Amino acid sequence: MKVVITGGAGFLGRLLAERIGSLPGLQGPRGLEPIEEIVRFDVAGDGVVVGDIIDPAAVRSVVSGPAVSVFHLASVVSGEGERDFDLAYRVNVDGLLNLIRACREVAPVPRFVFTSSIAVFGGAEPVVGDDTKHSSETSYGVTKSIGEGIVNDASRKGFIDGRTARLPHVIIRPGPPNAAASGFASAVFREPLAGRDYELPVSLGTVMPVTGVRAVIDALVALHEVDPARLGRDRAFGLPALPVTVEQMVETLRRHRGAGSVTLAPDPFVQAIVDRWPKSVDGRRARSLGITGSGSLDAIVDEYLEDFGGG
Ligand SMILES: NC(=O)c1ccc[n+]([C@@H]2O[C@H](COP(=O)([O-])OP(=O)(O)OC[C@H]3O[C@@H](n4cnc5c(N)ncnc54)[C@H](O)[C@@H]3O)[C@@H](O)[C@H]2O)c1
Repeated sequence: MKVVITGGAGFLGRLLAERIGSLPGLQGPRGLEPIEEIVRFDVAGDGVVVGDIIDPAAVRSVVSGPAVSVFHLASVVSGEGERDFDLAYRVNVDGLLNLIRACREVAPVPRFVFTSSIAVFGGAEPVVGDDTKHSSETSYGVTKSIGEGIVNDASRKGFIDGRTARLPHVIIRPGPPNAAASGFASAVFREPLAGRDYELPVSLGTVMPVTGVRAVIDALVALHEVDPARLGRDRAFGLPALPVTVEQMVETLRRHRGAGSVTLAPDPFVQAIVDRWPKSVDGRRARSLGITGSGSLDAIVDEYLEDFGGG
């Protein structure tokens, strides 16, 4: 089997490639298949096949062969999508369609895991589940909502065997932040743990549904492995999340002796985006497939220190 990971140079794409590389195989239409090749596709990055998701020829060149599975993570993320409407729709909608068109040429039908986001919901819906109406108030969230619809439709048509993981905020992101407005939820841990001071752009009362990196990578693999007969018509599954306040994040940081200071420096642009996101997720359908979230904020910090060293 060939596994294609778009956005393969990104935060989750790289970790997913590592995880898949450690597995004996993945489920395909003919049962467990050994993995022969993992292709990380991205616009730039070490060890990736370089290409743009909106370029049909580049996409076709990687989505080829007798047994292919696709993990579609490439995306314009929230902050960037809010600043550049055209780019968000081009990459997140046209790029997804491009990839599905390439999958249509492949037999047997590829399993296809797509990463959506709780940003498909608006802030008027504090607790969201898989039946909650999509009401995004950001361009990023609307493109992800369209993506969930496309994955369901293309699965119904038999072009792909799609599965959407609707991710909460994934923390703790190592290294420099990307353009996601949720970046503070990682930075508030990462920077003080590395001994650097951090200025928080949102208020302490801000509530975020979060999960850890290991839980998300586990969930993406688990969703890929589910027998299609168990998925039903709605292929989108909200991943379980912990609803936590920023104040609880800071308290957890203190328990882990982050040496850097945290001070409040409100940024209305970031606060406005975050206020339009939901606060809590009902991950019941994902749990029914055996997918769980992280146990606690403390566990997430412990995992981060183990996996990334905290530097
Ligand atoms: N990390 C989170 O908290 C979170 C939360 C919700 C959803 N998600 C989703 O999970 C996925 C992965 O997120 P991440 O945190 O790893 O993001 P990331 O920004 O680290 O990675 C995204 C990757 O996509 C690539 N990309 C962007 N435009 C591209 C294009 N035109 N062609 C090819 N590649 C392109 C980028 O270069 C980048 O490497 C994304 O779809 C994101 O929307 C992430």
